[in-house]
Amino acid sequence: MFKPSVIVIGAGAAALSLIASLPEGCSVRLLTKASVRSGNSMLAQGGIAAVHLPEDSVASHVADTLTAGDGHTDFSIVQDLLMEGSAFVHRLAQDGFPFDRDTRQEIRLGLEGAHSFHRIFHAGGDATGRMLTEYLLDRVPGDACILEQAHVLKLIVAQGRCVGVIALHEGELTTFRADSVIIASGGCGSLYANHSGDAGITGDGLMLAYEAGAELCDLEFMQFHPTLLVKNGTTYGLISEAVRGEGGVLRDEQGRAIMEGKHPLGDLAPRDVVARAIHEQIQSGHDVHLDIRGCANFTERFPTITGILRKAGIDVEAGKIPVVPGMHFMMGGIKVDAHGSTSVPGLYAIGEAACTGLHGANRLASNSLLEALVLGKRAARHSFDYARQNGSASRERAAFSDLISGEGNVSGDPMIGSSHVSDRKPTVSDLTLAVPDTTLAELQRQMSRHACIVRDAEGLEYLSAWLNDLPSEEIRLSDLTREQAELARLWQLARLVVSSALLRKESRGAHYRQDYPMRLDPQWSGRTITHTFSTAP
Ligand code: SIN
Repeated sequence: MFKPSVIVIGAGAAALSLIASLPEGCSVRLLTKASVRSGNSMLAQGGIAAVHLPEDSVASHVADTLTAGDGHTDFSIVQDLLMEGSAFVHRLAQDGFPFDRDTRQEIRLGLEGAHSFHRIFHAGGDATGRMLTEYLLDRVPGDACILEQAHVLKLIVAQGRCVGVIALHEGELTTFRADSVIIASGGCGSLYANHSGDAGITGDGLMLAYEAGAELCDLEFMQFHPTLLVKNGTTYGLISEAVRGEGGVLRDEQGRAIMEGKHPLGDLAPRDVVARAIHEQIQSGHDVHLDIRGCANFTERFPTITGILRKAGIDVEAGKIPVVPGMHFMMGGIKVDAHGSTSVPGLYAIGEAACTGLHGANRLASNSLLEALVLGKRAARHSFDYARQNGSASRERAAFSDLISGEGNVSGDPMIGSSHVSDRKPTVSDLTLAVPDTTLAELQRQMSRHACIVRDAEGLEYLSAWLNDLPSEEIRLSDLTREQAELARLWQLARLVVSSALLRKESRGAHYRQDYPMRLDPQWSGRTITHTFSTAP
């Protein structure tokens, strides 16, 4: 009997939510280039945003999401996802997920930036992501096949449909067929020197999708979290926004509260506003620290952060955490609809890899796990239905010789609104990847210098030329090391990110152009920068 098959690339909350929601009778294979317990979901501290208090409402959560998103969100997606998200989170609580509770067994809600109410569900104090991942891993069906250290290097596209992947696994290049493929491999934190995520998050899924013909959009909107603990050049980790929700205050070395007078919400202003304020302080020669002396029961409420502080040799009692902003989340990604479908039939994207329109130009705190859970569940149903309806046909169609996707040049011209993008002749051979002649550290240094919190044409043009002029070597997929493959993906993505950042000549959300400081230029309102890559012969 025909059994629909799906492949999931990635192992975070979105991937696991999808697998937990797939109907019975589906053959599931999860491929991750690392282990199932690595990745950004495991590191998520803050929690999951959902309405709970009687005085709160989904309408208020929607309004906060739209405000943070700075006029670039999709209203109906926001409304729809947040409504479903609230129900999802309450079901999780009913099903026994151990959200933190007070002595009366009421949910203990946290407060984070730009939220009008306490609505952050958290677990283990600040270990929500780890606990959620473990909870979902326990729900992976016993017959699901989990392949760790399986690095997907190509998607297989036959006659316009995605029908499998090629992965390097145990030193062998292996073809895995599937009736639908779901990308859930996260964003691209490693594009920057300071980031809050796992070092293995290198934009792989985005570039796989792009090569297969899917659209990427909103790549200029990178979220820099205001508070990463960086000491003597070493990044120790994230200091959750929830710390400011519990009374933490950002101060300069003189003890002045740096957010005073900068925004009505002060330390809990939207993330882009706070990150820029800290950036300005640092640029003008000041140090910034987070004063946690006002946070009650800090070590109990934030055990993960306490561990990070101890590792960095910071005295928790003294209450002074040195902070700098760092790359945290990519608002853009693979363009998907409300069910995770990309523009390539059979190919889905969920989690940070996907761009639904929920986050707009600046994501509201703790909306990402929420989106991962809901979109994972929705994509489960859709990818399964697609696999059931199209599976046997695509198997018949598939012949290895015409399966490989991704001929062409990654620096294809972007598309704005609905205008045209040029097709390019194939230049890259099927089974190789172009690895640039540079180091990851140098790429990160250049991105951190010229495409960071504050940008301008001069820096971006310099960066664009640097990226485009880098010599590269075509290396056969079978010969690639993981480091080479990751560097290749980051380089490809960097060129698209920089091209988007150059094109958007306004300041909006996390995209701040000091040569175009005017926020929300009406000429840019509603316009999306999209990149597509033609695989047409
Ligand atoms: C945080 O804990 O500050 C991060 C939460 C998020 O990114 O939403």
